[in-house]
Amino acid sequence: MKIRFADSRPTGDFALVLPAAGKNRIALDSLGGDRGAVDAALKRQRFEGESGSTAELFIPAESGVRRLIVVGTGDGNGGADGAEKLGGTLTGKLLTSGETHAVLDLTGLNYDADSAARLALAAALRGWRYDRYRTKLKDKQKPTLKELTIVGAPKEAADLWAKRWQPVYDGVSFTRELVTEPANIIYPETFVERAQAAMKGTGLEVEVLDGAAMKKLGMGALLGVAQGSVREPRLLVLRWNGGKQGDAPVAFVGKGVTFDTGGISIKPAAGMEAMKWDMGGAGAVAGAMIALAKRKAKANIVGICGLVENMPDGNAQRPGDVVTTMSGQTVEVINTDAEGRLVLADAITYVQRNFKPKMIIDLATLTGAILISLGHEYGGLFTTDDDLANKLLEAGQSSGDKLWRQPMADSFDKLIDSQIADMKNVGPREGGSITAAQFILRFVEDGTPWAHLDIAGMAWSDKPSSTYDKGATGFGVRIIDRFVEASVETR
Ligand code: BES
Ligand code: MN
Ligand code: ZN
Repeated sequence: MKIRFADSRPTGDFALVLPAAGKNRIALDSLGGDRGAVDAALKRQRFEGESGSTAELFIPAESGVRRLIVVGTGDGNGGADGAEKLGGTLTGKLLTSGETHAVLDLTGLNYDADSAARLALAAALRGWRYDRYRTKLKDKQKPTLKELTIVGAPKEAADLWAKRWQPVYDGVSFTRELVTEPANIIYPETFVERAQAAMKGTGLEVEVLDGAAMKKLGMGALLGVAQGSVREPRLLVLRWNGGKQGDAPVAFVGKGVTFDTGGISIKPAAGMEAMKWDMGGAGAVAGAMIALAKRKAKANIVGICGLVENMPDGNAQRPGDVVTTMSGQTVEVINTDAEGRLVLADAITYVQRNFKPKMIIDLATLTGAILISLGHEYGGLFTTDDDLANKLLEAGQSSGDKLWRQPMADSFDKLIDSQIADMKNVGPREGGSITAAQFILRFVEDGTPWAHLDIAGMAWSDKPSSTYDKGATGFGVRIIDRFVEASVETR
């Protein structure tokens, strides 16, 4: 969708979108003479202007008839969050309506430039779809909305959209594409190819390790997961050097299991197709790197994607196998379905040995248990560093990728001690997300600040929201973007 900012409403045929803020319905005033009939129509629809509510009517226009969408914004303009809700709501309403051009008039709402630009972001995000494999869509089912003109925003909004927020749209879109694609299309090698294509011209440095290179480095945990699949594993290493030369980078590490059957500890058939998005953490890291590069973040960042497919075959690892990780620590693999932590362990050692990051944040669709704790409302945040926790919670709140902190403690760590090796890869069923986090913590060296985001409940949604349709959400990109802006970038 093409988004433009303009000083006044264009002429010609378009759907008009007017926000209704507060009791006196600011912005509707611009309808002038038409106002009486419109008010009556709104009343008939029981429209009361609550945030996100809509009413639809048709009014006379030069071209015959014009569709008018009225969107409620609650009592005021709702700030940046209200602006996003407004932008997303109008796209949701008009995307497949038959209208090709929408004009949104914000006059009188007093959004600041950043809120108006974030309105554009939400409108674009809500319009994202992936119809590649739907060859028989009826015309009526196809999206029609191609253009949005926003009138009445501060003049800096256009620039902020282009330079600050459109890059985030590009990053989130890329993540959603990777997450949406099935596992016969996106596997470690093709994940890397797509990333290389998307990153061309962004200034990101891309390095790729294959199975042989990882074997040389002793990544026995990651390779143990990969060994049951005919798909070769990959480690994708992305660098953005936008900060001071010589400044230690911040590292983001993503779990990229392109399909998780569970391995020999195989999952039940029902719902297993969802495990195509078990690469949502790696997808978020790749998308966030694109966003940071395109908006030229003033920070040094490393993004690592550990890419494997977890399959059961004659060469697959068995429950009880002991693997030696790149760190030298050994792991008894009790359950081959607890594979994400094995991938992350070696990826985290790799990034520490090679880049000496000043901070590590990993993102992973790691446990089903986090869905039991937090549902689909919050990602789980695990860290022993209170300062980092607060910064991530704040970034979550202001970006919309919300997190809720979970506990960590030595008493949980004890639960993964093994009889035969340094640790086992699962604890008891209770507290399963926490013991998973404790496992990862054992691979963080020298007290480096570290946080783990368990996004198993957030990478995919079965219902639409104001910034996404059903399906891949792109969760993770916006929190990384916001965290880097607020807590890493040098100003
Ligand atoms: N990828 C899954 C976690 C998952 C479950 C993500 C549901 C999204 C939705 C992970 O690899 C896994 O299988 N975890 C196991 C761990 C268990 C064996 C300790 C789980 O959560 O059941
Ligand atoms: Mn698993
Ligand atoms: Zn998994």
